[in-house]
Amino acid sequence: MNTIADLKIDLVEVCEAAARACAPFVGSGKKDEGDGLAVDAMRTRINQVKMKGLIVIGEGAKDEAPALYDDEEVGNGKGIGVDIAVDPIEGTNLFARDAAGSIVTLAAAPAGSMYRPGSCFYMEKQVYPKAARGKIDPTASVEVRLGQLAKALDKDITEITVFVLDKPRHQQLLKEIYACGAKVRLATDGDVNGAIQAVLNMGSDALLGIGGTPEGIVTACAARAMGAEMFGRMAPQKDFEIELCEKEGIDTTTYLTRDELVTSDDCMFIATGLTSGEYVDHVKVGTDSDGKYMTTDTVVLSGSVGNIRRVQTTQHV
Ligand code: FBP
Repeated sequence: MNTIADLKIDLVEVCEAAARACAPFVGSGKKDEGDGLAVDAMRTRINQVKMKGLIVIGEGAKDEAPALYDDEEVGNGKGIGVDIAVDPIEGTNLFARDAAGSIVTLAAAPAGSMYRPGSCFYMEKQVYPKAARGKIDPTASVEVRLGQLAKALDKDITEITVFVLDKPRHQQLLKEIYACGAKVRLATDGDVNGAIQAVLNMGSDALLGIGGTPEGIVTACAARAMGAEMFGRMAPQKDFEIELCEKEGIDTTTYLTRDELVTSDDCMFIATGLTSGEYVDHVKVGTDSDGKYMTTDTVVLSGSVGNIRRVQTTQHV
C-alpha cells in the first residue's frame, strides 16, 4: 500500500458505510440526524483503514453541523500519510427533501498535497471539462470565458450549460451568463455535484460561482484525476469569516490553479449517491429471504488520466 490508488476499495467502503447509515433519513426532513449518522459511520470505517490519515478539510464549522474535524487524525496510524477532504453528506437540504444531487463524498491525496484554506469557508470556483484545460483565462469576463469554453468544446455559446447555485450572491453572475445566450442549470445546493457534471461532461459544461471551500478541495481532486480544469479563489462571505481571513492574511484576490489546490497526480475522488443523480444512483433498499439489504452506487475518479470506476454494492443491513 504505497499509493492513494491502493486505498481505493477501503475508501469506497468508507463512503458506502456512510451512505447506508444515513439512507433511512433520505426525504425525512431531518438533515442533522442523517448527517450525524453519516459522520459516525464514516469515522468508524475510516479508522480501520491502513493509513496515517489527516482530515485536512472537513465540514461543519461553516454551518455548525456534525463533522469530521479539520486536523482530526484518521486511519489506523500505519502505512502511508494521506490528506483527506470529506463531506459525509454533500447537499444536506437535498438529502432531507429527497431532491436530486445529494452524495457522500471523500477525496484523498498524499500527505501535504491538499491546499489548506485556513478559516475561509467559501471559495469562488470555476470548473471546466478536460477539453478546456489550459484554454480559459480565469480572470477574464464571463462572456470571454464562456466564449473560450465554447471554442474548446466546439459548441455554439448557446449550447453551453453552466451549473450555478441559486443564491442571492449570484445575481450578477446569472445576468452575465444569460446575456451571452448560455443556459444555466440552477440548483439550490450541491456544487460538487455541479462540478462533477462539468468534469464528466454529463449535464453541465461548467460550474461557476461561490460555494463551500471543503467542496472546492474535493472538487479539485476530481478535476485533477480527470485531467479537467479548475480555478479557485478564496471568497469569504460571512462577517466573522472575513475578519478571520484578514487576520490570517488569506489572499482573496488570486485564482489558485487546480494543481495548487491539490499538488499530486496520485489523488482520488469518491462519490456515493444518496438521492438520484446524473452520474450515481440513489441508495436502494430491498428485502429478500435473508432480510433487508441496501444497494449503493459509487463513482471513483483517480490518477490523472481520467480513470473512472463505478462500484455497485449490495449488503444486508
Ligand atoms: P451542505 O452539504 O453543507 O448542506 O452544503 C451544500 C452546499 O450547497 C454546497 O454544495 C455548497 O458548496 C455550499 O452548500 C454553499 O453554501 P451556502 O448554502 O452557505 O451558500
